[in-house]
Amino acid sequence: MRTIMLMNSKGGCGKTTLATNIATWFADEGDKVALVDFDPQGSALDWLVARQDYTGIPSITGINAVEAGFRVPKGTEYLIMDVPAGIHGKEINTILRQVQTLIIPVMPSPIDIRACSRFIHELLVSRQVSRHRTRIAVVANRVRENTIIYQQLERFLNSLDIPFLSSLRESQNYIRSAERGLGIFEMAPSSVYQDLVQWDPILEWLGSQESLPLPIKKKTAKKRRG
Ligand SMILES: Nc1ncnc2c1ncn2[C@@H]1O[C@H](COP(=O)(O)OP(=O)(O)O)[C@@H](O)[C@H]1O
Ligand SMILES: [Mg+2]
Repeated sequence: MRTIMLMNSKGGCGKTTLATNIATWFADEGDKVALVDFDPQGSALDWLVARQDYTGIPSITGINAVEAGFRVPKGTEYLIMDVPAGIHGKEINTILRQVQTLIIPVMPSPIDIRACSRFIHELLVSRQVSRHRTRIAVVANRVRENTIIYQQLERFLNSLDIPFLSSLRESQNYIRSAERGLGIFEMAPSSVYQDLVQWDPILEWLGSQESLPLPIKKKTAKKRRG
């Protein structure tokens, strides 16, 4: 099973937006997808409720993880996890043990950049991340190009030692699709083509070995004979 998590210590940066869109991408490909909501606000589950109004779109299973412990339906191929803001320290390590891939959305704002910088520092000291058992990447979100703050964000993300996958523009398409329980991949292509192009590098990374943990090297035990 492929496990992908969206996390950042800061709220409002697009964790739920990216989680729901990634979920629809794989569901639309015909994969069996479950969306795990760790957020007491339950935004991802609300989105799934709106999605139920449509027939003929691939279904996605919702899992409420607010109360510790949850069960993943048999046969799930993609488990997308939406984690609320405010996670720190030991909690990070516990939660990371469950994931192969972590994407961190970041918004262009001074507060968000500072918070993200601290958060990534915390992640990088985690053994789970330093040993590449969880692969991490950043995505800029709600971007308005040609603004000074976006240039600052870009410089910051490029300075990190982790992949900076893409910048997603600020667009009503995300709000409109979310309202309906859809992903932007499920909107009329003519209205979302600019957004789709920005998703390409993210989807490409998710489909590559770069987003998967390195295999754990086993000690080469000499075979005993005789
Ligand atoms: N690229 C974007 N363009 C416009 N609105 C966005 C974009 N990304 C997220 N939003 C909106 O911003 C708000 C916060 O996003 P959300 O994904 O809920 O953040 P988080 O889960 O990190 O708190 C939501 O209303 C969402 O629809
Ligand atoms: Mg959220």
